[in-house]
Amino acid sequence: MANIKCVGILTSGGDAPGMNAAIRAVTRTAIYNEMEVKGIYRGYKGLLDGEIIPFKTNNVSNIIQQGGTILKTARSTEFRDPEGRRIAYETIQKEKIDALVVIGGDGSLTGARIFAQEYNIPIVGLPGTIDNDLFGTDTTIGYDTALNTIMEAVDKIRDTATSHERLFFIEIMGRDAGFLALNGALAVGAEAAIIPEIWTEVDQLEELIEHGFRKSKNSSIVLVAESEITGGAMGMAERVKKKYPQYDVRVTILGHLQRGGSPTATDRILASRMGAAAIDALMEDQRNVMIGIQNDTIVYVPFSKAIKNDKPINRDLLNTLRILSI
Ligand code: F6P
Repeated sequence: MANIKCVGILTSGGDAPGMNAAIRAVTRTAIYNEMEVKGIYRGYKGLLDGEIIPFKTNNVSNIIQQGGTILKTARSTEFRDPEGRRIAYETIQKEKIDALVVIGGDGSLTGARIFAQEYNIPIVGLPGTIDNDLFGTDTTIGYDTALNTIMEAVDKIRDTATSHERLFFIEIMGRDAGFLALNGALAVGAEAAIIPEIWTEVDQLEELIEHGFRKSKNSSIVLVAESEITGGAMGMAERVKKKYPQYDVRVTILGHLQRGGSPTATDRILASRMGAAAIDALMEDQRNVMIGIQNDTIVYVPFSKAIKNDKPINRDLLNTLRILSI
């Protein structure tokens, strides 16, 4: 069993609902196993600035239901430089931190991987991102809550879209990943989803119009994943307005409201299981792995796989969406 006396924990990158539940689980599982815990503030930046405090069980009381992250978060540019990582390592030595738990998305785990390799420090990652774009895990902390937030918001837009008989393009977050847009579209009964994963294969908008959407309907909702490739909801709306001036088109960009709010039960349970698993993994001498979940079972996914591989989208879902939107 690994001899880890003190674990440092940080959240990095875009916040995600359930990060607090994960912080709580890591902290309490570590203390239960007689380890010290140190909370590192503002992601990797906290390692550079030394913004670190000891965490006891009551530091994580009453946070399981809160969105955001009590540890704050940031995207640190300094940590991308070797010199920044050298300073971070000095802090780790000074604080007597033996291992790190990093909660974040793709960019944060990429940073963890490089740091772990350079300084031979055990790091376990937790997939904390609403985007659900990490390979090797069926889902990520925050994804379910964001999906439910999208569903509630789009249901409201549907009311006004129907009343005015309008076509709405609604932009959904996902940083070039279509999981939220596609599953969101299924959940709200949207007419279509435009996602970057299949953009190169077909002109999804043309296809949509060719299939005659809106003919038999008095409103249409299209969820568009944010993406530089597709030009997002604005880009789609402009194209449709030019070609079909008879359509009454509107655009809504849901934006950062998708990242906030109290986590769903699914996210709280996922974060609690993953947080506890992070400490188990460290005690089992695992390092440089992300905790994932596959078929309701916790798995360890090497950073190299989680980050490098593109997580495939389930194309059957697109077909189902098409069929159900006739
Ligand atoms: O990765 C999470 C995410 O919300 C993406 O969906 C989005 O592209 C990005 O973060 C937005 O980042 P920022 O907080 O810097 O605006």
